[in-house]
Amino acid sequence: MVSRVIPVDRFDLVIFGATGDLANRKILPGLYRRVLAGQIPEGSQIIGAARSEMDAEAFREQVRGAIHEHVSPAKIEPEAVEQFLTMLDYVAIDAKGDGGWDELKAKVRPDAINAFYFSVAPALFGDIAERLHMRGIAGPEARIVVEKPFGRDLASARALNATLAAHFDETQIYRIDHYLGKETVQNLMAVRFANILFEPLWNAQFVDHVQITVAETVGVGGRGSYYDKSGAMRDMVQNHMMQLLCLIAMEPPYHFDPDAVRDEKLKVIRALQSVSPHDIVRGQYLGKGEDAGYLEDSEDPDSKTESYIALKCHVANWRWTGTPFYLRTGKRLRARTSEIAITFKEPPHSIFDEAEGDWRENVLVIRLQPNEGMNLKMMIKEPGPGGMRLVQVPLDMSFAEALGEDGAEITDAYERLIMDVIRGNQTLFMRGDEVEAAWAWTDPIIEGWEARGDRPQPYDSGTSGPDDALMLMHRDGRRWREIRE
Ligand code: BG6
Repeated sequence: MVSRVIPVDRFDLVIFGATGDLANRKILPGLYRRVLAGQIPEGSQIIGAARSEMDAEAFREQVRGAIHEHVSPAKIEPEAVEQFLTMLDYVAIDAKGDGGWDELKAKVRPDAINAFYFSVAPALFGDIAERLHMRGIAGPEARIVVEKPFGRDLASARALNATLAAHFDETQIYRIDHYLGKETVQNLMAVRFANILFEPLWNAQFVDHVQITVAETVGVGGRGSYYDKSGAMRDMVQNHMMQLLCLIAMEPPYHFDPDAVRDEKLKVIRALQSVSPHDIVRGQYLGKGEDAGYLEDSEDPDSKTESYIALKCHVANWRWTGTPFYLRTGKRLRARTSEIAITFKEPPHSIFDEAEGDWRENVLVIRLQPNEGMNLKMMIKEPGPGGMRLVQVPLDMSFAEALGEDGAEITDAYERLIMDVIRGNQTLFMRGDEVEAAWAWTDPIIEGWEARGDRPQPYDSGTSGPDDALMLMHRDGRRWREIRE
């Protein structure tokens, strides 16, 4: 199946922090892939803006390097690379001063779509927003894109929202959570709301529990100073995992419209009950062989920051009361895998004897990465003679196999999200009130750890995390799914 490319209008995209890691790894290679897909119209401009003094030619060379490093060789087509490079321009800018702003203003064309990507430290958001607005560079139709972390608690997120709101309307602000741009994450909405099959069962009467797992094999080496002030709770749970939980638990929006969807997600976050310390396990990875342990990676030999977290929470509303949601995420675990598993209850009455097979519940597994797809575990009769014996089989669908040509690459989250900004579609971006509500739920948990001086439990690299996380499930008579690719 050939993927459909929806054309966008001519645009000027300014990337603040264009020499930084995110720009080189994700944003610029993503834009190149959109050129390759034929989606970026002629006459569009991508303007890099950063502190470094360099000219447009030097910037193009930097981007050429980034493309060769971060785009798969099969997707490097010299003509498309040159076409992309000719769209690039560069302005050396002083985010806190006057340098470069007049030059930027002269380059941004008011008759094109204008978008400004803040790929810089949050401390600079206010300075940049103010200059864009006060100097008349960004008009009322312009969009700004901001990256996480969006605050580190409720107070700082509120302050950040207020800073941006002083210069831009909420309809102009695109807060990125790149998980929302992942193919399968959006598919969650398609599976739920474009099929009649699951919705009648999608509630506490039929769902025993939900597990959300985001497991990584990498440690925090190289970004230890950021991570140590953050930890798994702020880095993953408050944003990415919370968004996944919302998409599973939310009510059907009346339309696939930005505010209708975000209203429903917000209701889920507000319905989350506070979590008892008893229902949370924090972990910190130990070193193994050549690989450093967390305490070496973080450079603080006494760090109490968690690189792993598992917790049980409840969405207190009519649909979900009685169904626990178990969330876990961690670094340096056994495999890189992210999935959502919805375990249904057993049928109310079995007509088969227990001896007649290996009875298991239905489980719907949505794999976010790798090998995006879905798997529905069902009971069937074991083939062959010998009576009525039951066996569980997976109905397995890999999206790449079902939809793509062989080896088709699923569009990267950033590509999709940047194009949504250009199209002016905020559905997959977090609204200010959502972010604040997520912090309001997270803050007391973190404050509790700090007040008690909680230390995370050490766990061996390459495992599934601390043993207590197993207990979190065992005491409810349940089990985590195995972490494996
Ligand atoms: C980022 C976190 O937001 O998401 C990282 O800051 C994490 O710590 C990353 O590794 C995971 O993203 P992905 O797309 O690789 O699952």
